[in-house]
Amino acid sequence: MYNHTNLDEIDLSVQPPAEEPARQYYFIAKLRQIVSEKSAAAGRQLTSCIHTFGCQMNARDSEKLRGILELAGYVNTDSEDADFVLYNTCTVRENANQKVYGHLGYLSGLKKKHPDKMIALCGCMMQEPEVAERIRKNYRFVDLVFGTHNIYKFAELLTEAFSSGKMVMDLWEDTDKIVEDLPAERTYPFKSGVNIMFGCNNFCSYCIVPYVRGRERSRKPEDIIAEIEGLVADGVVEVMLLGQNVNSYGKNLEKPITFAQLLRRVEQIEGLERIRFMTSHPKDLSDELIQVMKGSKKICRHLHLPLQSGSTAILKKMNRRYTKEQYLALAEKLRREIPDLSLTTDIIVGFPGETEEDFQETLDVVRKVRYDSAFTFIYSKRTGTPAAVMENQVPEEIVKDRFNRLLALVQEIAQEMSRRVEGQTLPVLVESVNEQDSALVTGRLSNNLLVHFPGDENLIGKIVNVYLKECRGFYYLGERR
Ligand code: 5AD
Ligand code: SF4
Repeated sequence: MYNHTNLDEIDLSVQPPAEEPARQYYFIAKLRQIVSEKSAAAGRQLTSCIHTFGCQMNARDSEKLRGILELAGYVNTDSEDADFVLYNTCTVRENANQKVYGHLGYLSGLKKKHPDKMIALCGCMMQEPEVAERIRKNYRFVDLVFGTHNIYKFAELLTEAFSSGKMVMDLWEDTDKIVEDLPAERTYPFKSGVNIMFGCNNFCSYCIVPYVRGRERSRKPEDIIAEIEGLVADGVVEVMLLGQNVNSYGKNLEKPITFAQLLRRVEQIEGLERIRFMTSHPKDLSDELIQVMKGSKKICRHLHLPLQSGSTAILKKMNRRYTKEQYLALAEKLRREIPDLSLTTDIIVGFPGETEEDFQETLDVVRKVRYDSAFTFIYSKRTGTPAAVMENQVPEEIVKDRFNRLLALVQEIAQEMSRRVEGQTLPVLVESVNEQDSALVTGRLSNNLLVHFPGDENLIGKIVNVYLKECRGFYYLGERR
């Protein structure tokens, strides 16, 4: 790995190397020179701010981007007054896009007052050709636009934006390239996301992800293990393995391996205490995986298993490749094999053609599976997906009414399910001092529920036993035991 010291040894008078990641370290060194000159001229250190929209993948990408900025000498801040502002965007639902355009209006005002300010956009939304076109035409003050496939080139692109003084736009349709060994600046010292694969091949008919994140590519198990070992040596006790569908991990590798086999190898890493993963597609969740989870001491008692709809007819139109009955059988098997498992899900309401009967099937699954928690979404039409041109788009008032009924049911059941562990004493990973009451700390159970209990900041990052005294809706109040 590179660090500040060997950045000094990079000779910037020669041409940049062609191979990665050496090329990017060359540009980080170059960027550091630019930042240092500008800091000297301003008489203060330059600041940078990354604003992240969307999922855990984006959060992890932002940690990588922040790692590059910090190595280049920027001081990280949460304020959009920063010298460099980057929006890492999401496009899974239309309202995420609207938020970005709204923020851009505000940034344009700031840039008028401070013309040296640099503004960049990246992430899923930029992978949509019509968005890129709109930015190019109507948002001329943006300095840099890149997508999801080339974030490893960030230092190179930002250097180019500085030297050209024009908008730099670098968008790739797809790639099979995975660049290893770039820096990352973690949000939490004790836990980290770890990408195990990129992209998605499932093409659920409502979903834009396969178009903006490209085809499925798995990282080699050796690289994943080496990254986690490095994180553990740096104080990490919990990892979240990330992929759009972790159950198809490893299928396209030269030496194929299953996700369950990868988990077995991760489990053996000494010093690592907890393993989480996200997301599992119900169509290919294997018995092998259930058995590995069941026998594991480190894999957390939480599985996120998106349902999307409980109606077999709608599931077919969604291209989900399972039926209501198959999903129920899988959920029942999971509950039977691992009784203390927390099952959570994603549900979409108002997919084209959804009738009241279809919706009742969804409520039926929610009642039968009894989710510990569920994210509920109103269907959002994404241009370019097959569902966008389907007939019988459901009127807004009907969707809203269904959404409210679903939410009420999900919350009622989730409250009951959360109460399941009341009175038990269970291990909790302490994450922070409580925001409202500084005499308390906040931590997470293996099943992902939050617990607040008396303690101080010295406990952060430690796993301690906590007596779960009282369940308050979706969280616990406890006491150390
Ligand atoms: N409309 C509404 N929700 C969507 N999701 C994905 N695409 C759409 C869409 N077009 C939801 C799915 C997925 C979650 C990450 O976002 O439920 O599991
Ligand atoms: Fe989208 Fe389906 Fe892929 Fe998930 S599995 S990212 S919902 S296409």
